[in-house]
Amino acid sequence: MNKLIVIGLSTIAFASPSFAQHDNVARGQRSFRMCAPCHSLEPDRNMTGPSLAGLWGRKAGSLPSFERYSDVLKSSGIIWDDRSLDGWLTDPDRMVPGNEMPFNGIKNPQDRADLLAFLKEATKPGAAPQVTAQGQMGGMGGMMGGGPDPNLKNMEANMQVKAITYCRDTYRVTTADGKTRAFWERNLRLKTDSGKDGPQSGAPALVPAGMMGDRADVIFAAPDEISNTIKAGC
Ligand code: HEC
Repeated sequence: MNKLIVIGLSTIAFASPSFAQHDNVARGQRSFRMCAPCHSLEPDRNMTGPSLAGLWGRKAGSLPSFERYSDVLKSSGIIWDDRSLDGWLTDPDRMVPGNEMPFNGIKNPQDRADLLAFLKEATKPGAAPQVTAQGQMGGMGGMMGGGPDPNLKNMEANMQVKAITYCRDTYRVTTADGKTRAFWERNLRLKTDSGKDGPQSGAPALVPAGMMGDRADVIFAAPDEISNTIKAGC
């Protein structure tokens, strides 16, 4: 919604500062695609990195629901604001040596300013649902891997795993639509997601991964389901 309005008006109102601000936000939203594989904007939806919801004013490394902060980030004493975030996004390793964010930094100051203009809006309390949807759908390739996984609680039949057999070097995965697909054992990754987007217990999900169609993930609700589900036999 917002995006359409911005695109529509920016042609006639480019000289006005408030519309210039909107352009920054729109550009920043596109840049956020670099961050979205690892960071959500929904409160407590943690992925590789912590949720960025409510970021401004937060102490670095302090989100209680995120389990994987490095000690150096937790003890850095940084409070996130315009300045500290500009420093972090310029060169995370220079600001907090030894941190565990696998990201080189954004060298162009205007690109950082645009991204921060977007993030400042998008991380405000209550802002998450619409910006998250926009920020994460575009160009992320959702189902193709790399993007955040779709919600696995309401899956289509072709994703619901009914049975998995293991024979020599091959897994055969049968889904609720009755189809069985064979995967070389190194092309099938077995994962868990205990979070709110993860599958129901006892109902693992088959999610395509990679571009060639030969790889997939099976995502279980808990680790003990993995060996309980997979039956050896040819
Ligand atoms: C490949 C995954 C990855 C990418 C890409 C990534 N991050 Fe991170 N980010 C992390 C991880 C992991 C941490 C935690 C680092 C630590 O604890 O040392 C983190 C931490 C952060 C923090 C500190 C949050 C806190 O609670 O203290 C901010 C802010 C942040 N990232 C912003 C961004 C932005 C903005 C981008 C895009 C320009 C980005 N990150 C790209 C994985 C990533």
